[in-house]
Amino acid sequence: MIGAQLAFSVAHAAEQADHALRVVAMELTSSLPTALARPVEYALEGQGKRLRPLLCCAGYAAVRRTQEIPDGMWRLACALELIHTYSLIHDDLPCMDDDDLRRGRLTPHRVFGAPAAVLAGAALIPAAMMALDVEAAGLGLDAVTRGQLVRELARAAGATGMVGGQWRDLEAEAVPIDAEGLERIHREKTGALLATSLRIGGIAAGAVSEELDALSAYGQALGLAFQITDDLLDVEGKPEVTGKSSGRDQALGKSTYPGLHGMERARAMAEERVRDAVAALAGAGLDTPSLVKIARHVVERQC
Ligand code: IPE
Ligand code: IPE
Ligand code: MG
Ligand code: MG
Ligand code: MG
Repeated sequence: MIGAQLAFSVAHAAEQADHALRVVAMELTSSLPTALARPVEYALEGQGKRLRPLLCCAGYAAVRRTQEIPDGMWRLACALELIHTYSLIHDDLPCMDDDDLRRGRLTPHRVFGAPAAVLAGAALIPAAMMALDVEAAGLGLDAVTRGQLVRELARAAGATGMVGGQWRDLEAEAVPIDAEGLERIHREKTGALLATSLRIGGIAAGAVSEELDALSAYGQALGLAFQITDDLLDVEGKPEVTGKSSGRDQALGKSTYPGLHGMERARAMAEERVRDAVAALAGAGLDTPSLVKIARHVVERQC
């Protein structure tokens, strides 16, 4: 176990995700008009952490009890990165968080203009669904399972997940909300996609329902820990490390964990959620070194 713990490296796994993403991105951009292919490439190739494909593949590996992840599984996991990247392009638009810096460089709308950025983001949504289905077929998954995977992603990205949460996040700029309302926003805008990343990995690996429940619970708790840490980094992170401007949440009047609970309590709450996340895995025997290490990474990261 200790050997395996040392063997798994978040940075190395992110490189594997990057490699797969280049293949998936090339397929997509080859069919887009150049004016949209350029912002798509630009948004994808920035310094992203690739957390969602990483979680997807770690979930797969945990269920399969292996460290061997097929190349096709990495490409399938890139569907999560496509949806996530669309969400970042749109999140940064002037009509949303109005950010100039993302992944260490100017935001896509600042470079290519808002119309191209909006459509580049939109192009990533069906591309993600296609990549999920095509790569799942390549892995030999049957039509029923492929349908299940696509529905998982659609649900997490949509009204009861990311889109709903993003809307509630914008609404909360003007209307103060309580702790319960804020947790809901964080669960929806961020937690839903993280939990689904794990579930998609699990489903692709043939998980039984007890395993899927454990992966969901881990992903939801990790999603909260991740977004609380994101809120903390917005206050104390350095743009040259995070690749994003700092202090934007306060400037926009966002509801955040540090704003509502204070920095120290928010930090402690993120740690509590990491403990919940790992505990949820243990019951199903899925507390693999890689999933435990990723959970620590989520709260210890500087970017
Ligand atoms: C940023 O996500 C948006 C949130 C959900 C907080 P990440 O911090 O995972 O961004 P990248 O992918 O590393 O750029
Ligand atoms: C964004 O949350 C969540 C999604 C993109 C769905 P934030 O607005 O806090 O993310 P950053 O801080 O801009 O990356
Ligand atoms: Mg936002
Ligand atoms: Mg934002
Ligand atoms: Mg943020």
